Amino acid sequence: MEYLQTNSGEQPLQQADQCSVSCSPGETVGEMVAKDIGKAAVFTKYGIDFCCGGKKTLRQVCYEKKLDHNQVMDDLRRSGQTLHVNNLPYHQWPLDFLAEYIVIVHHHYTRDKLPELTSYAAKVESKHAGKNPELTEIKALVIEIALELGAHLQKEENVLFPMITQLSKAAQANTAPPRLGLGIEHPVRRMILEHEQAGSLLQRIRELTHDLTPPEYACITWKVFYQTLAAFEADLHVHIHLENNILFPGALKLVNG
Ligand SMILES: [Fe+2]
Ligand SMILES: [Fe+2]
Repeated sequence: MEYLQTNSGEQPLQQADQCSVSCSPGETVGEMVAKDIGKAAVFTKYGIDFCCGGKKTLRQVCYEKKLDHNQVMDDLRRSGQTLHVNNLPYHQWPLDFLAEYIVIVHHHYTRDKLPELTSYAAKVESKHAGKNPELTEIKALVIEIALELGAHLQKEENVLFPMITQLSKAAQANTAPPRLGLGIEHPVRRMILEHEQAGSLLQRIRELTHDLTPPEYACITWKVFYQTLAAFEADLHVHIHLENNILFPGALKLVNG
């Protein structure tokens, strides 16, 4: 499938002397990831939000989080030298294809993981909340995330994504954009707001768990719970990035020209 063609699967995407880690002053971390999804792993490692909070430059973020800018840049360069495949050209895809990809890959993953996380949270809380009372709040947060994201995915699949698909297909057929009731601006704003809410809930869990670090005496379920949560958060960052920084701006551009 031509949309899925990537850079060579066997060749590093960038060589050291060609490294194109952007240093342009106005470029935001969200834009950096939009150009090269390989940078997402580095930003995640440093707790840098490239999706909801992705409208800041790397310098701004490093300053706010007290991170060593040069060290982050070094890691970004290394990610460019070592990353193979999986760097899909999302920003070149037609928006209907991107929306479908998000549903198949990220919505399915989210729906798959939420019951698992809820179950781990309940199990760990029931056994260990006596010594670690924060586990009660963590369980409540996971339940809240599950409920909010469940409804969020439904809204995207039933309301916003079908509208984006219509817009995208009209653009590909070179026909006028379809009339879409009250338009897409409001649902886009709503979805971005819900992304921020989910991000805040996950951030609160990070605060309560020392960045998802289980205590030394943690049982296996506890460790698996935090590992699964970390993987879930990383996937959600990419998922929200694709929507906030590529899908939604692309759809608004189709409407507004
Ligand atoms: Fe989504
Ligand atoms: Fe979303």
